[in-house]
Amino acid sequence: MSEQTAGPIFVATWDFGALAVREAWTHWRQTSDLGASCVAGTAAVESDPAIPTVGIGGLPNRDGVVELDAGMMRGSDLRCGSVASLRVTCPAIRVAQAVAEQTNHVMLAGRGADAFALQQGCEPVAPDAMLTEETRSQYEAWRARVEAGEIDEEKMVGHDTVCVLGWHAGETVACVATSGLGYKRAGRVGDSPIIGGGLYADDQAGCAASTGIGEELYRHAVSIRVTDAMHSGADASGATGGVLRRMIERDPANRMRGLTLLAIDRQGGIGVATTRTDNHEFELHVCRAGEFERVVPTPIV
Ligand code: GLY
Repeated sequence: MSEQTAGPIFVATWDFGALAVREAWTHWRQTSDLGASCVAGTAAVESDPAIPTVGIGGLPNRDGVVELDAGMMRGSDLRCGSVASLRVTCPAIRVAQAVAEQTNHVMLAGRGADAFALQQGCEPVAPDAMLTEETRSQYEAWRARVEAGEIDEEKMVGHDTVCVLGWHAGETVACVATSGLGYKRAGRVGDSPIIGGGLYADDQAGCAASTGIGEELYRHAVSIRVTDAMHSGADASGATGGVLRRMIERDPANRMRGLTLLAIDRQGGIGVATTRTDNHEFELHVCRAGEFERVVPTPIV
């Protein structure tokens, strides 16, 4: 679906991507700041408790505790920041942005990341307020079925990650945030905060991000591979499709795992490649200079 435009362009994943691109566009009109606009779009999704796989109200780990991961990267200077396993501060993407902009580090995790967020002025969220009534009762039902031996605790429970990519006149930004796999082990970190795994941005190539089973996505270092392919001359469609096909060649089981790669190349071309998902089809939301579009890509089979 490569197509060029004056921009700015914002693309965001899943049905809540509609909220993300609208918020990013609103922020852009006020600030003309690409990075801050992508962060604003991501934070809007994280702050909506009705969205059960990202931010407040996200799916908890197997102890019933929500742990958030997020990352952001700016392609102009490769400045990047990420956080993993935040428990008491949200939106995680704002903490990732502060890591990128206020520290010499790239990644903070666990208690240190929450402490940094509080130092930066983030309001603490009471641990039980991270769950909604719905996600708490889903967790309790899941726990009861595990204890009754009806389901295996190790079985991965899917989740949808918000990825927001931004482009304007060759400038690129990538942001990603998630509560990660449902009922994961405490401390499990997915691809979303891994620079080169869940996201990458380099204005000499473009930007890329991923959603799906994090273990598979960063095993294949997908975002750096998509960006490298664009650096070598592929457009965003060719780069995302090529890397996903290579993942399937390497392990045919990937065809059924629900994996999606998205990218914007240097020229503003958009690419998305997805495999089949078991529960619902993948959708991408696009904003090109204030024109909004919903895209449902055909899965690679
Ligand atoms: N793709 C997000 C995760 O696996 O946590």
